Amino acid sequence: IARISPDIATLRWTQIGYSPSNAAGTPRNLMGFKDGTLNSNAHPPADLNATLWAGTDGPDWMRDGSYLVYRRIRITLEHWDRVPVAAQEQVVGRQKVSGAPLGGHGEFDELKLDARDAAGALHIPEMSHVRLAAPETNNGAIIIRRAFSYNNGTTPFTERWPPWRQALEYDAGLLFLGYQKDPRTAFVPINSRLALNDALTQFTTHTASAVFALPSGAAGPGHWVGEELFGPL
Ligand code: HEM
Repeated sequence: IARISPDIATLRWTQIGYSPSNAAGTPRNLMGFKDGTLNSNAHPPADLNATLWAGTDGPDWMRDGSYLVYRRIRITLEHWDRVPVAAQEQVVGRQKVSGAPLGGHGEFDELKLDARDAAGALHIPEMSHVRLAAPETNNGAIIIRRAFSYNNGTTPFTERWPPWRQALEYDAGLLFLGYQKDPRTAFVPINSRLALNDALTQFTTHTASAVFALPSGAAGPGHWVGEELFGPL
């Protein structure tokens, strides 16, 4: 696209990300957890008209398109990798190796948000990421996600206090891509909730944010994406 459109479009920024193929199962993010088990490109919800495609309540040119919310989220990997796996699982609400919900056995087991252990404690903790992001606790709001990892390298740093250690720190983490029919009823309320209480936020910093309007696909041969907005050539 950049090559064929230099006179009509301007490159603003780029960000390289990567992800293993879904063919080998749900890919893992840099925290080592499977990411994309529920409500993702590989495992979408059943009703895409209710969740993904823009409807009649927006402009005509967005009809059957979708809105993408992008966040570049830096992860304190130096810290996370020193947290015991059992505590990491409490943060996420899923088992690290299998991806199963805590209290379950398989990756695709139902999320049982009310299930408790013999001592009466919730299997999936109150402040865990999956509980606070789940449609069941967000009035049914759903984002269809696709996660990529990014690695922008390392920067040297020197502590400004004794013992003035010198080290390298990562600028690496997750590119969150969330598609939905209306960010005002999906990303915004879900992320507002996560920002307040999600245990995962101890390890994350959102360092870039953007919203894209993605018009629907081309109507057929001779047509092009965005035609309804920009008019015929
Ligand atoms: C570094 C940041 C993040 C990491 C490492 C992360 C990781 C994960 C993991 C491991 C899961 C469980 C597996 C799965 O169902 O795919 C998950 C689920 C989910 N995450 Fe995140 N996530 C991050 C940021 C976010 C953000 C910013 C949002 C939305 C505002 C979000 C929304 C969700 C949703 C909606 C689910 C599925 C919940 C469900 O349908 O039950 N995540 N995430």
